[in-house]
Amino acid sequence: MIKKVAILANGGDVSGFNAVIRAIVKTAENNGIECYGFIDGYNGLLKNDYVKLSTANDQSASGILPKGGSIIGSSTNANVFNYKVEENGQIVYKDLSDICVENVKKDGFDCLFTLGGDGTQKSARDFSTKGINVIGVPKTIDNDVACTEITFGYNTAVSVATEALDRLHTTGETHHRIMVLEVMGRYAGWIALESAIAGGADIALIPEIPYDINKAVKKINKRRKAGKQFSVVVVAEGAAPKDGEITIMGKRDNGVGVDNTKLGGVGQVVARELEKLTGLEARNTTLGYMQRGGTPTAFDRVLSTKYGSKAMELAIEGKYGVLTVIKNGKLDYVSLEDVVGKNTKIGAVSGNTAESNIRRVTMDHDLVKTARNIGICLGD
Ligand code: F6P
Repeated sequence: MIKKVAILANGGDVSGFNAVIRAIVKTAENNGIECYGFIDGYNGLLKNDYVKLSTANDQSASGILPKGGSIIGSSTNANVFNYKVEENGQIVYKDLSDICVENVKKDGFDCLFTLGGDGTQKSARDFSTKGINVIGVPKTIDNDVACTEITFGYNTAVSVATEALDRLHTTGETHHRIMVLEVMGRYAGWIALESAIAGGADIALIPEIPYDINKAVKKINKRRKAGKQFSVVVVAEGAAPKDGEITIMGKRDNGVGVDNTKLGGVGQVVARELEKLTGLEARNTTLGYMQRGGTPTAFDRVLSTKYGSKAMELAIEGKYGVLTVIKNGKLDYVSLEDVVGKNTKIGAVSGNTAESNIRRVTMDHDLVKTARNIGICLGD
């Protein structure tokens, strides 16, 4: 019987982190298991920096269900298998994972819950290979973790984008403008596509479909002929024109062996081109971190709670080296081996690290078909 478990939250934050933490802690407490949280993701694991999480004693994990962010922090630059350290005034990268393994063993943690996206789960798989009992929970607003139909945090991001589109609609209509909304999602267009449908956008440009700007122009002109002098466009940050490149804002410093591309700016590019080609005024709004912060939707609170309680249930059953997932609409789990690595079976493409996969929008997905059926232009 397990007695003591630990949680870490890693990668870019999402709404729902705390709801997962709370669900793990509550399920643990109901089974007489002690729960701890490493501070700032894998950084805390490396430094052996952790706190007790409880709803019964110090109340640290109580009242956190609607709270955005993560009460135990999170880190976007903690690849402990290739960690940045300063040695003799020089920056070098080292594999410090053995220190983490030692920390987990030394303090007697029976299981480690890793809340994170593809990069986090890749490290989780590697810790599992090193003999640590790991259970992953799929997080990211991008909804691109392989093998699951949905990640926690995604629904909130879509809701925020949808509200933004509703607001852009009224100002666009008033001033007869083209309103462009740039949303996040890196190399997967889930947020853009789903919010375009939810927010009644006319055009959605996603990374999976290299766009032809003339197709967007055609759609806008068709609307003008029908008496509609405004249009609403959603652009995913990773969308690129056919025969063109993605728009990059700069570089992140998330370590080596990870994707450090800082995406952003394509919304402005699209707005400028549409203005030039249609003669209508166009404005861009970049939604940015609004999509990640703040309170989770009811859907995300429930999904996060399901994921957290399932993860703890799996730990009690001794099923390790797995990721909680939603498969065919049902709460389930898969081996971390299926989620990361060069796994061609799942048809995913390379994600945040060379060895992690991401789930992208496929052309036969319901969302693509629905968007096309109702006349949303996807730029092709
Ligand atoms: O992966 C989540 C995400 O929000 C992406 O949509 C975005 O490209 C990226 O993180 C931004 O990362 P950072 O927090 O490093 O700016």
